[in-house]
Amino acid sequence: MAYRLTLNSGHLIPQVALGTSRISKDNVEVCINRALEMGYRHIDTAAYYGNEIAIGKALQEHMESTDLGREDVFIATKLFQTFMTGHAVEPALDESLRRLRLDYVDMFLVHFPCSMKNDDAYCEKQTIPRENLSVDLRETWKAMEEMVYKGKTRSIGVCNFNSKQLDYICEGARILPVVNQVEVHARFPQKKLHEFCKSRNILLEAFSPLGSPHFKGPAEINVVQSSDNLVENPIIVDIAEKYKRTPGQILLRNLVQRGIVVIPKSENPKRMKDNLQIFSFSLSNEEMEKIDKLDNGKRRFIFSWFSTHPEYPFNEEF
Ligand SMILES: NC(=O)c1ccc[n+]([C@@H]2O[C@H](COP(=O)([O-])OP(=O)(O)OC[C@H]3O[C@@H](n4cnc5c(N)ncnc54)[C@H](OP(=O)(O)O)[C@@H]3O)[C@@H](O)[C@H]2O)c1
Repeated sequence: MAYRLTLNSGHLIPQVALGTSRISKDNVEVCINRALEMGYRHIDTAAYYGNEIAIGKALQEHMESTDLGREDVFIATKLFQTFMTGHAVEPALDESLRRLRLDYVDMFLVHFPCSMKNDDAYCEKQTIPRENLSVDLRETWKAMEEMVYKGKTRSIGVCNFNSKQLDYICEGARILPVVNQVEVHARFPQKKLHEFCKSRNILLEAFSPLGSPHFKGPAEINVVQSSDNLVENPIIVDIAEKYKRTPGQILLRNLVQRGIVVIPKSENPKRMKDNLQIFSFSLSNEEMEKIDKLDNGKRRFIFSWFSTHPEYPFNEEF
């Protein structure tokens, strides 16, 4: 079972989650059941992933047929960019709760800081909205806070925010974001953003913690192909051989040892298990430093589709 960290809301978060965005549609229920059996206690989803219905079904069936209770699992979902005006936040969360068959989620995250005009049924079609919409991030955040007061989520946080956007929503906030979920892996360790988040008592949460090997992504998102596959990197492979672990476990261990929450995606039973078993060994300072040297300062997820948006987050240094 994964270690748990304490969020600034006082709630605990399991440090490893199952990332679900790229689990094949017809495999979601099986994977969620398997993950819960293996000891995963944190599931990361989003309205945009189109898998909340399958996750809700699997969760309910699992809880009805085992001792697992609602309090034992940490479910995180995300507000999509087309629901960032204040009045749209609650109906969007209500829909996620309905799909997930839950009364509350443990963490509700703003998916991306760029608000977009709604187009019809993006969830079903999984289309990327095209038209920018100007919404003050504080307006969105105020509505997110209301979701905590109404008991529909225990904690709130953000994804893909830069340091200025974080400070902007924190100023005058009644409830602080608990995490900032961003791309973090050995090639893009986000050292500066991490230090900044630590200074604000916000946890960094790593998406694509293995560097998202094999993922090409739709052109709209613009996923830059990495020059190498981190799980085949000779430095990582060497360390893995020393500890008789897999390279994937070394990459994840490096991040959890830095105090980061990780959400690796896997639908392969062995790799799912491996990704959870990273708490019974630790890397030496020298090994951590060797991995630090893999930093090439290049993010893979550019999300260039949104680059004309005034809130596009990646023009800032961090
Ligand atoms: N908030 C955001 O904007 C955002 C953006 C991107 C992603 N995310 C979240 O982050 C999660 C993970 O990101 P990701 O899927 O891009 O990348 P990732 O977790 O770094 O990599 C997943 C890939 O690595 C393979 N894999 C998994 N475990 C492995 C291991 N131990 N050794 C070798 N290969 C392994 C998987 O294949 P198999 O399935 O075959 O094992 C899959 O191809 C997503 O599912 C999603 O929940 C969030």
